[in-house]
Amino acid sequence: MSSGRIPRNIPVMTIIPSSVLRLWPIASIGADVALLCFTAFILALLPYFGLRRNLVDKDGHPIPPGPLLRYPFLRRYPEKPLFRWAKQYGPLHSVWMGNQLFVVMNDPHVARDLLVTHGANFSGRWGYFMKNQTILSGRALTASPYNETWRKHRKIAMSVLNPKAALGYADGIDYETHMFLRSLHRTSRDGSAPVDPASFAGRYALNNMLAVAFGTRTLSTSDPLVDEAIRLGMEFMDLTGPWTNMIDFVKPLQWIPTRARYRARRLHSDFLSVYGAMINRVKARLDAGEQVSDCLVKTLLETQESEKLSWEDMCFIVIAFTTGGVHSTSGIIEWFLALIPSYPHIQAKAHEELDRVIGREQWPTSEDESKLPYCRAIIKEVLRAHAPFWMGTPHCSEEDFVYNGYFIPKNTVMVLNVYALHHNEDRYKDPWTFNPDRYLGDSLNASESSKLGDPFLRDHWAFGAGRRICPGMVVAERELWLAISRLLWSFSFSEVPGEPITLAQYEGLSGRTPLPYRINITPRHDGVLDILAEREEIAMRE
Ligand code: HEM
Repeated sequence: MSSGRIPRNIPVMTIIPSSVLRLWPIASIGADVALLCFTAFILALLPYFGLRRNLVDKDGHPIPPGPLLRYPFLRRYPEKPLFRWAKQYGPLHSVWMGNQLFVVMNDPHVARDLLVTHGANFSGRWGYFMKNQTILSGRALTASPYNETWRKHRKIAMSVLNPKAALGYADGIDYETHMFLRSLHRTSRDGSAPVDPASFAGRYALNNMLAVAFGTRTLSTSDPLVDEAIRLGMEFMDLTGPWTNMIDFVKPLQWIPTRARYRARRLHSDFLSVYGAMINRVKARLDAGEQVSDCLVKTLLETQESEKLSWEDMCFIVIAFTTGGVHSTSGIIEWFLALIPSYPHIQAKAHEELDRVIGREQWPTSEDESKLPYCRAIIKEVLRAHAPFWMGTPHCSEEDFVYNGYFIPKNTVMVLNVYALHHNEDRYKDPWTFNPDRYLGDSLNASESSKLGDPFLRDHWAFGAGRRICPGMVVAERELWLAISRLLWSFSFSEVPGEPITLAQYEGLSGRTPLPYRINITPRHDGVLDILAEREEIAMRE
């Protein structure tokens, strides 16, 4: 052993302590063992690189066409290569990510046929190592396989997110828009100082979700638990890109102690402890006989036994609301505020509509939505031009399937190419131009639009499609309406001289938000100050 060589008949595992094996590369291992390990590792990686596999089913149907190479991951902004491939290969194409087949839907009819008409087969979720297996442990609705447990959890979520329940949050959302605009205005020192709106939009969306989930709100982010919840949300967005994690597609990487794996495991346990503590606060109040307003956690605690919910189930259903419902909604508001300074003519048109229909004494309410088609059109156009999830949340096939002569094997990842759908020149004239006029005459909300017989006429695909379509869209649309229509009613927006805003780049690997920016917001008239002064900030019971 003094030569550093290891006798060939002794298994490596018995002579190298496991604590040492965990460190790799291991300086003290003999050169040939290290070489052996390296060669084995490279061999294990081989199936994940190289050329695409052209599978055919027993009847000779090929998989949809696609690029020649396999990819261990797609770099930042994966929508770009996917868009190029959509142009090259047509309505349905495939791409190999390591050893995993992805099929990408680039056309509204194909998306409807597969995700809606054949939803029974295309509503699964693939076992992404980072997001679905490690961080969410197959829960939180979005990571749940398509089965009875998912149905049960989705039913519970819908009981607090359906249109009737959403009416119950109307006052709360109304109040939160008030606080959102008031803090923006104060920070801007009555329009004299530029503001970065991101944290205000984030707090608005977070407070709305805290109300829905916990029946509470936060005065600021100074509550350590809420602070932590926000940090975890950002970490989640950073770790769960559907294309960007090599560890998702190259299985051998999942067996070694990488930083990515460590962060995912850590996030899982942090999620449980932070949200567990927040649920326990509500439980303690209920146990003490206090009045707790109707909310998700109350429903979960009351139905825990009858629905056979484990503690992890409960925590992750709640986490679904904050990971699904905060950055997505605040992201749309951030995109709106980032782009609107560049469009004075759109602002002028919206201001004219608001002054004509609503006047300057009061600001728009939920009931005014149908009377303000141009403001509605602006929101739809932001959702089209800046959808937070360019690739939706991928679905997965449950069984082998043949569609239009193409073979889609069981366990294929099914991707809705929202970026391609939203830039389809046949559906949207000049798709790269921000033009709310294209939605004038469309009076349907996103949920109604998603059920149109002709999918080509659907407003946009920002909320996904099929049985997994976003369950929060009614609440999200209400939040967006009140925030954006009131922002337009209250302020004029302009760029800060010397600080151009870039819309081409963005943050977040799973959900997109603009890069940090500042804008000037100027109150349009005295009515704004009167309304903003009407209500004081209150803290609900923590
Ligand atoms: C503008 C805001 C929002 C956008 C753009 C958005 C978008 C999406 C998308 C694209 C999906 C995937 C759909 C699919 O698999 O086909 C999704 C799923 C989901 N969303 Fe939203 N969402 C938003 C707001 C919300 C809100 C407010 C909630 C509140 C609870 C929420 C909760 C969820 C949940 C739990 C899922 C997983 C559903 C499942 O897998 O069954 N989202 N959302």
